[in-house]
Amino acid sequence: MSEPLVKVETRGRVGLLTLNRPKVLNALSNEVIDEVANAMKAFDADDNIGAIVITGSEKAFAAGADIAAMKDWSYTDVYKQDYLGHQWEYLRRVRKPIIAAVSGFALGGGCELAMQCDFIIAGENAKFGQPEIKLGIIPGFGGTQRLPRAVGKAKAMDMILTARMMDAAEAERAGLVSRVVPSDRVLDEALEAATVIAAMSLPSVMMAKEAINRAYEAPLNEGLLFERRNFHALFSTHDQKEGMNAFIEKRQPQFKHE
Ligand code: HXC
Repeated sequence: MSEPLVKVETRGRVGLLTLNRPKVLNALSNEVIDEVANAMKAFDADDNIGAIVITGSEKAFAAGADIAAMKDWSYTDVYKQDYLGHQWEYLRRVRKPIIAAVSGFALGGGCELAMQCDFIIAGENAKFGQPEIKLGIIPGFGGTQRLPRAVGKAKAMDMILTARMMDAAEAERAGLVSRVVPSDRVLDEALEAATVIAAMSLPSVMMAKEAINRAYEAPLNEGLLFERRNFHALFSTHDQKEGMNAFIEKRQPQFKHE
C-alpha cells in the first residue's frame, strides 16, 4: 500500500497530523490540503480529542503549494475551483486549538498553514518565508494578512516583497513563533504543550481560542464584551466548579469537559 499523504494519529487526547510528501518537501497539493481539512474536521468532532498538532519532516514543514501542479493553471481554472478556498475556510473554523510544530522550511502556503494554526513551535533550523513573488504571484492563503498581524508591516513588506526567509531566532523576536527549541525536540515540545491544553476543560479552551481570535477580528469593545460574556458563561460548567473546588481543596482538578 502506498504511504498516505498525511499521517493521522492520536496520542492520548491529542490529534497528530504529519504531512508526508518528503520528496517534494511536503508541497501542498490539493489532495494534501483536502486530507488535512478532513482530518481536522474529524478531530474537531471527536470528543476524545482536546488539541491538535500538525507537523512535517525535519527538512520541511511544507515548502508551499505544489508548484508543479499549479504551473499550467489558468485564471479560470483557479477561479472556478475557488482554489483552496473551501478547505481554507474549513481550517479557519476548527474550534479546538491547533499547534504547528515547524522544522525546516515553512514557505509560501507552508508558512501560511503554520500561521493559520493557533501558535507555532519552531525548531532552531526553521525558516519562514513568503517567496511567492519570485514565482510571479502573491501569497494566497492569508500571508499578506496574517504575516503583518504577526510581525508588523515593515517585516511583512520586507519578507513578501524581497522573498527573503526569516530564521527561527528572528521569527521568535518578531512574534511569529511562540517558542524555539532544538530541532530534534520540536514535535515532543508541541505534543507536550498540546497534552497540557487537552487536559484543561475543553469548553474553556475553546472559548479562550475564540476570544483571542476576536482580538484580531473585532473592535476592542466588541472583543471585550465577547470575552466577558464567555467568562460569565463558563460559570455554568461542571468544570468551573471542579477547577475552583480543586484549587481550594489543594488537589488536581478532574475535568469532564462539560
Ligand atoms: C513543488 C517542490 C516545492 C513546491 C520543493 N519542491 N518545493 N515541488 N512545489 N513548493 C521539490 C523540488 O522541486 C525538488 O524536487 C524537491 O522538492 C527538493 O527541493 P530542492 O529545491 O531540490 O531542495 P533545496 O535545494 O534544499 O531547496 C529547498 C527550497 C526550494 C529552498 C525550499 O525547494 C524552494 O525554493 N522551493 C519552493 C518554495 C516556494 O516557492 N514556495 C511557494 C510556493 S507558491 P526534485 O524532483 O527536483 O527532487 C505558494 C502559494 C500559496 O505556496 C498560496 C496558495 C493559495
